[in-house]
Amino acid sequence: MSLPSVNPTQTLAWKKLKEHHSEIASITMQEMFASDSERADKFHIQWEDFLIDYSKNKINSKTVDLLLELANEVGLEKAIKSYFSGEAINQTENRAVLHTALRAKESDVFLIDGKNVVPEVFEVKSKIKSFTNQIISGEKKGFTNKSFTDIVNIGIGGSDLGPAMVVEALQFYKNHLNVHFVSNIDGDHVNEVLKKINPETTLFVVASKTFTTQETLTNAETIRSWFLQSAKQEDVAKHFVAVSTNINKVTEFGIDANNVFPMWDWVGGRFSLWSAVGLTISLAVGFDNFDQLLSGAHKMDVHFKEESFDKNIPVVLALLTIWYNNFFGAESEALIPYSQYLQKLAPYLQQGIMESNGKSVDRNGKLVDYETGTIIWGEPGTNSQHAFFQLIHQGTKLIPTDFIGFVKPLYGDENHHNKLMSNFFAQTEALLNGKTQTQVKEEFVKQGITSEQASFLLPYKVFSGDKPTNTILAKSLTPETLGSLISMYEHKIFVQGIIWNIFSYDQWGVELGKQLANSILNEINNSAIKSHDSSTNFLLNYYQKNR
Ligand code: F6P
Repeated sequence: MSLPSVNPTQTLAWKKLKEHHSEIASITMQEMFASDSERADKFHIQWEDFLIDYSKNKINSKTVDLLLELANEVGLEKAIKSYFSGEAINQTENRAVLHTALRAKESDVFLIDGKNVVPEVFEVKSKIKSFTNQIISGEKKGFTNKSFTDIVNIGIGGSDLGPAMVVEALQFYKNHLNVHFVSNIDGDHVNEVLKKINPETTLFVVASKTFTTQETLTNAETIRSWFLQSAKQEDVAKHFVAVSTNINKVTEFGIDANNVFPMWDWVGGRFSLWSAVGLTISLAVGFDNFDQLLSGAHKMDVHFKEESFDKNIPVVLALLTIWYNNFFGAESEALIPYSQYLQKLAPYLQQGIMESNGKSVDRNGKLVDYETGTIIWGEPGTNSQHAFFQLIHQGTKLIPTDFIGFVKPLYGDENHHNKLMSNFFAQTEALLNGKTQTQVKEEFVKQGITSEQASFLLPYKVFSGDKPTNTILAKSLTPETLGSLISMYEHKIFVQGIIWNIFSYDQWGVELGKQLANSILNEINNSAIKSHDSSTNFLLNYYQKNR
């Protein structure tokens, strides 16, 4: 069975939404709030430790009803069933998309070709658990019989961004092990990490689903050669482990088959932190915290699968994105966590969202004639307020923004937290209300500004407001809430892909650059390079002469 394939622009709901957009676009949110005192009550979802307030959006009840109608018309309900039931919904690669099975309960059943994959998942989890405990406790030792002090995760894309983001986010829960990440093929990256570690006390986790990725293999080879300057070949087994689906390639590389943590082709790279790719997370914060992360994600999976669409957080957030992207022409969305711990959330979700939904061919093989994937960007607040918020407030572009915050700080510092959260609330309020001419004029009077100065300054000091935001407020940053938050965005990606009628789980676009890089690498030592366009020839010949 395949996913439904409906051109969203041909649905009745889309036509109604277009008409509705022309009715509603010129009504400001300030007017909407003024005419409806129940807005916040109507447009929020409270679930577990989360409060999602989506009332500061350019919507009314009719908008929500029509967006829900769209979700129904494109067959979202059926698509969710196909997603969770292990059908090969990644049709261009003929694979299921079952990262949800990685965080299932032991009693759950997730079938692929009639086989329940949950027992295998739990087998690998138990291997992760015992390995983690042996490393953290110091029971497992390096080649000179010393306990491990450092972990280096070698991977790229989904085999790096997820673990790197979560290890950073859960720093508060971290143990004594120092964790490093090597991803870029830029040799300066690996050399900077090698400066900080001791081969006798460092464990290397080579994470690569395919075990064919140029960056990861090159970095792993460089690190192995560095390691062998102090150790013997047989010591590699004590210091190198791998996470991969490709056992043959791993053993060819020289890693012992017992040191392989398997994963499966039904786990997409950008959704793999829940698999053994999360080994580095488990090592950094302990298996119990890793398991809590999985449990938070699982709770969100159940919510997404079972909740009616009007109260379903990923569905509602996805529909709002569709509303701005396809009816208001918004091209990007900002994600602003008010937590320094979440500084890598936006780069992480850039892969999840943009690699998934950056597609222009629909599920019938036709070029789409409507907009698909949004551009995602962001940085933590309050830093970002002092960097790019000016453009969100007073620029010409519409940038719907998610504000993510926590009620309680982890160190209990109320002074800082109240100031942080005042900014969090103030920004969404400012983006909604802006500043009117009357308010600005009143300020001028208080400041004693001359009328000549005032009339010059007035247009610059007025803020139109009317900028949409979602407020995502959780109780505190725990492994469990983080798991739910990531899972929420994963399902949002799915819903958007279904509505846009695209395949969200392949990434063919990334492959072309890889192929060309390999062919250029083969030529880079040739004398005069002539086989490319004139610009590429010119640049390559310049590089050769000057290196
Ligand atoms: O960037 C393309 C990609 O295939 C990602 O989807 C993936 O996360 C990354 O490369 C790394 O792949 P692998 O885990 O196979 O090394």
